[in-house]
Amino acid sequence: MKIYSTALEFRAAARVARSGGSLGFVPTMGALHEGHLSLLRAARARCHVVAASIFVNPTQFAPGEDFERYPRSFERDCELLEREGVELLFAPSADEMYPAGAVTWVEVEGIGERLCGRSRPGHFRGVSTVVAKLFHIVEPDFAFFGQKDAAQVAILRRMVRDLKMAVEIVVCPIVREADGLAMSSRNAYLDPQERKQALVLHRALTLVGDLFAQGERRTEALIAAGKRVFAEEPSVRLDYLEVVDPETLEAVADVFGVALVAVAGFVGSTRLIDNILLPG
Ligand code: PAJ
Repeated sequence: MKIYSTALEFRAAARVARSGGSLGFVPTMGALHEGHLSLLRAARARCHVVAASIFVNPTQFAPGEDFERYPRSFERDCELLEREGVELLFAPSADEMYPAGAVTWVEVEGIGERLCGRSRPGHFRGVSTVVAKLFHIVEPDFAFFGQKDAAQVAILRRMVRDLKMAVEIVVCPIVREADGLAMSSRNAYLDPQERKQALVLHRALTLVGDLFAQGERRTEALIAAGKRVFAEEPSVRLDYLEVVDPETLEAVADVFGVALVAVAGFVGSTRLIDNILLPG
């Protein structure tokens, strides 16, 4: 695996490496786990050449969030990427991605202010901006993202569509721990007690999914049932539990057609998210 830290060098190397074949790209913030590896494997299965990036993007963290303490494990990540057969790694510095005086942003209006965008103002502007930059540098044919970040997927799909970018977004299923907790780099923050408490997200979503399977279509009833599960775990502070259209992230009154049930909560100071799709 070749590692590059400048856009100029990476772009040149990627253009040569793909030489007529397809290039798959997996953007990450590092601290890799099985969720990330599933994306790399999907890329490996589909594309001739696989590129990944590791960049803890400062602009998607609000002041006071966990940018400084976000887990960083570059050496180990490189070993994992090698093992998955990744050919090219882009690992830029913050100055490389945001040269002094950079004032250009990509903002997906409306959608970017829903779900996590509401509780983390500016977060999705940071995500769409950095992913647009990465797409320009990497020039992938396919880019792989996890359903774990369902709102991120909706926003990036819209960005690609609106800006006519020549990349196809591929979405991979959520990878979970054996007990159902969605894998996340932030799970490393949880102490043993919080790790147990964190299961409330999955429990609430499972109940909502079960009620839907039994025929419940009223959003209000589905949300109320999910919130009751949270009420039984008062140590976890619910940020939101919503049933929304997976493309626009707008609330749906009743579920007719595919709907996204998205949840976010604070376990101690750790903010976790999870979701399920209702088949409609
Ligand atoms: P990061 O949190 O490192 O996640 C990188 C990719 O891995 C994302 O597409 C995310 O949805 C996916 N992922 C994380 N946990 C997963 C899981 N349990 N199952 C399946 N996929 C999972 O998301 C980001 O980084 C950043 O916002 C980024 C897109 C890199 C822009 O900075």
